[in-house]
Amino acid sequence: MSVHSSSLLRLLTLVGMLAAFLLPATSAEASAPLRTHAAARGKFIGAALATSPLANETSYRTIAATEFSQVTAENAMKWESTEPNQGQFTFSGADAIVNFATQNNQQVHGHTLIWHQQTPGWVQGLSASAMRTAIQNHISQVVGRYADNPAVTSWDVVNEVFDDNGGWRTSFWYNTLGQSFVADAFRAARAADPDARLCINDYNVEGINAKSTAMYNLVSSLRQQGVPVDCVGFQGHLAIQYGFPSDIQQNMQRFADLGVQVRVTELDIRMQMPRDSSKDTTQATYYRNVINACNAVTACAGVTIWGFTDKYSWVPDTFSGQGAALIYDENYQQKPAYTAVHDALAGGTSTDTTPPTTPGTPTSSNVTSNSATLTWTASTDSGGSGLAGYNVYREQGTTDTQLGQSTTNSINLTGLTPNTQYQVYVRARDGAGNLSSNSALATFTTQSGPSGGGCTATGTIQTQWNNGYVVQPVTVTNTGSSAITGWTVTFTLPAGHTLAGSWNASVTVSGQTVTAKNAGYNGNLAANASTSFGFQVTRPSGNTQTPSGYTCA
Ligand code: G3I
Repeated sequence: MSVHSSSLLRLLTLVGMLAAFLLPATSAEASAPLRTHAAARGKFIGAALATSPLANETSYRTIAATEFSQVTAENAMKWESTEPNQGQFTFSGADAIVNFATQNNQQVHGHTLIWHQQTPGWVQGLSASAMRTAIQNHISQVVGRYADNPAVTSWDVVNEVFDDNGGWRTSFWYNTLGQSFVADAFRAARAADPDARLCINDYNVEGINAKSTAMYNLVSSLRQQGVPVDCVGFQGHLAIQYGFPSDIQQNMQRFADLGVQVRVTELDIRMQMPRDSSKDTTQATYYRNVINACNAVTACAGVTIWGFTDKYSWVPDTFSGQGAALIYDENYQQKPAYTAVHDALAGGTSTDTTPPTTPGTPTSSNVTSNSATLTWTASTDSGGSGLAGYNVYREQGTTDTQLGQSTTNSINLTGLTPNTQYQVYVRARDGAGNLSSNSALATFTTQSGPSGGGCTATGTIQTQWNNGYVVQPVTVTNTGSSAITGWTVTFTLPAGHTLAGSWNASVTVSGQTVTAKNAGYNGNLAANASTSFGFQVTRPSGNTQTPSGYTCA
């Protein structure tokens, strides 16, 4: 290419970049995947990946590839996975993640080299000098394996070295080697890959507190000694019942001012189960706040979510009765938290405070016993961030329920209750998360259940223990003579019993009454066909009463 044409090309590229920077996002861009919006800000948006669903589930792979620009191995790069026996390295899980990332143009954050968990017993019992040698060898082999791989750009070199008050955690590393293992590990990682960004990572360090201040002092002192600490990871395992660390941006900035990159490495926001729309809304706000904090700090490289679907999350296994911490539900449906992350990434730099115009009054059509189509006149958005979509609500008492979201001016509602009046309205949403006023209400009434019968539900206790049990399957059968496109099962939990989780249905709880509606994929039942869902209950120890009154409509 001649000098002239390459300069022209550069000029055109620059003009394009400038236009992309200055012009508001179009609505098509506004509803683009998370990674597109993150890239427009020069940030990554990531997810931790588990190897088993990555190998076996198309929905998992598709979302992981489409929505995220960065991935972290949830477990596959930990010491117990990569060097289970001394000197015996196994990289099958790690390679699967790295290969997936390469195919999908994603960065990999290596997690984690030195941690007190998921490190095999043979390491923990070593003498000080043997442990130092093991650290050198492990880091040189594991980091070295990917040093020339452009996908692998960063590592958590040490993880969770502090206890909850900011003292040194008395792990086997610390007990055997004192503080020296931290600097040794960073130096070994730098030697193994001079180009990788090297991070120290911890939890409960998102806000300014004793632990984050201990981290701050350690990073500052290590860097003064020339130890190659390039980055600080804030895990971000939050819970809506414990409040939001409102000084997260200020905290990130004080680390950034030390000259390090910062990132949120393991974001999830759990709640006490069961989910409800008000908890979902709080969770969405927390997600939005984290993304906004990273957006506002130049040195924040991006945010990694610890998984993405509630189907695969460490939370319920660790915190009894808690869950739903991620941005997709267990059926791969986007939750309000997804919208919040999306809109925070897509929004302007918060200069857009102008909501879209109010949508037209919805009109209903194709109303069946359990579904209806709504269509309305589209809104427009002049605030700069672009129209992102619409939320559809049912007006119902003091808290209205969100029935669904749409990126177009129409929605097909499913899983409605037969013979029931619905009053619904629509609000438009822009890329900065501003919501329009409510449209006028539309009213429609679903038809009565299918002629010639309806549906039935029966639940079976699959397993039980002292203070809980699993009901699986709850078999839902279409006993009618024609197909149905959705079902709603209600039943009653005994006093003192609480729902701890459910699958293959969308479940809400009011007092002891549980309402389970079909999931997106199991609502269609031909005449005589069956499907099933399941749920788990926590009960007072030894109370052997069981749920009753299963009805299906
Ligand atoms: O692979 C075995 C499987 O063979 C066995 O049947 C099964 C039975 O329990 O266990 C499986 O191993 C589990 C492993 O995850 C893989 O699924 C372990 O029991 C389980 O303890 C382990 O949990 C991981 C946890 O770290 C361990 O501490 C979670 O998946 C992982 O999300 C979690 O991640 C950590 C970060 O690395 C560091 N920060 C905190 C974060 C949450 O704890």
